[in-house]
Amino acid sequence: MGKDVIVACDFSSKEETLSFLDRFDEEKPFVKIGMELFYAEGPEIVREIKKRGHRIFLDLKLHDIPNTVMKAMAVLSRLDVDMCNLHAAGTIPMMEAALRGLTRADGSRPILIAVTQLTSTDQEHMQKDLWIDRPIDEVVMHYAQNAKTAGLDGVVCSPLEAGKVHEACGSGFLTVTPGVRFADGDVGDQKRVATPALAKQIGSDYIVVGRPITAAQDPVAAYRRCLNEFCG
Ligand code: C5P
Repeated sequence: MGKDVIVACDFSSKEETLSFLDRFDEEKPFVKIGMELFYAEGPEIVREIKKRGHRIFLDLKLHDIPNTVMKAMAVLSRLDVDMCNLHAAGTIPMMEAALRGLTRADGSRPILIAVTQLTSTDQEHMQKDLWIDRPIDEVVMHYAQNAKTAGLDGVVCSPLEAGKVHEACGSGFLTVTPGVRFADGDVGDQKRVATPALAKQIGSDYIVVGRPITAAQDPVAAYRRCLNEFCG
């Protein structure tokens, strides 16, 4: 498992997404489909992109009671996605139920990773709104360990945290890391960024790259540059 570039297809329609993917005639990138596209186009968009030979990370971040999450995950598993995710805040029983739902009759299942604390949540809001008083770094690491205890495969985190997650949860525990920018690229709204080469050095297993590829003059060249820096 691991060491690949996942392209975040943050488009709002099927047409835009497929015309973007049409540019790739040699490679079949691993793609991330988020809530916007999934809610706009439904499960058919997943089937269509799978049919074209891409692997899919379906980024829907489930968080509900264990029984509901288990049943929803069974649906995603039947859609044959390759990776999906949930909020570790749903607790260990919810994460265990998710795994049960995902596991197919033959024992296979998509990779399941957890979101710890969203990067949009800071210490202040975690304390004021959620009444969690511990330092946010400790909370992130604790949630990662809970995900590991529940049997999940890894977490979403910053590339800068990948080393610490591997120290706490083992080197086989996957780190899937957004917040990637080229050294000469636009940072945009991301705050704590790393280049693909630095992400590789710190030990990310998968980098999730959106605008540096989707908004590039030549997306295929930008994708290849990511592959070279990260996997080469
Ligand atoms: O365009 P960009 O490379 O910033 O896209 C990163 C992708 O990763 C987006 O789909 C964004 O929603 C997602 N993401 C993130 N930070 C997180 C979790 C997900 O940027 N902590």
